[in-house]
Amino acid sequence: MNALTTNLTAFFREQHHFDILASHLRSKPAGTSWRVWCNAASTGEEPYSIVMTALEALGANPSFKLMASDIDSRVLATAAAGIYRLENLKGLSAERQQRFFLKGKASNAGMARAKPELQRLIEFLSVNLIRDDWPFREPFDVVFCRNVMIYFDAPTQRRVLERIHRVMKPGGMLFVGHAENFSESRDLFTLRGKTVYERR
Ligand SMILES: C[S@@+](CC[C@H](N)C(=O)[O-])C[C@H]1O[C@@H](n2cnc3c(N)ncnc32)[C@H](O)[C@@H]1O
Repeated sequence: MNALTTNLTAFFREQHHFDILASHLRSKPAGTSWRVWCNAASTGEEPYSIVMTALEALGANPSFKLMASDIDSRVLATAAAGIYRLENLKGLSAERQQRFFLKGKASNAGMARAKPELQRLIEFLSVNLIRDDWPFREPFDVVFCRNVMIYFDAPTQRRVLERIHRVMKPGGMLFVGHAENFSESRDLFTLRGKTVYERR
């Protein structure tokens, strides 16, 4: 499985999703608890972007839990380590680099590590989207499922969407990839913006 997939990703890929997420987080009363799932999380740039957004929108020590999953054990290990080449951080402002990353020195020069403040908000786990054995008990407020459904045929996409619908709260937000369109599943999700859906 590890060999079959592409892992291309970046920090704050599709910036408009993070702007919408920040507004959504700020729109609820202070102290609201958030449960978020980022699947197909690849090497971690996407889940770290989500928790940076949460810390900026909600302040320090938010009631915010992110489950970050992928099918590929190698990319999950990279994500959990949270260590990146400095050139991979170029999508981040200098302020974000300073606030959320520790720059390596001496033999670690050229590398940066995500601070514990980010890592303690994330649980990394292995989930295969096309298997019916997802380990979740509590429903999610927000789901990121971006740039992975393009690899599935239409019936598989529909089955995965039905399962995502089942693990989300009504009114929850689903973010999908720029080339993904689920308008034929409007019985499950209502389009709310460019590649942003609301769970019905
Ligand atoms: C192109 S990357 C997308 C990364 C990130 N979501 C983004 O948009 O930047 C696709 C990811 O989907 C994962 N993937 C592929 N098939 C999967 C499956 N059946 N279940 C879970 N993850 C899968 C791959 O391992 C890879 O990390």
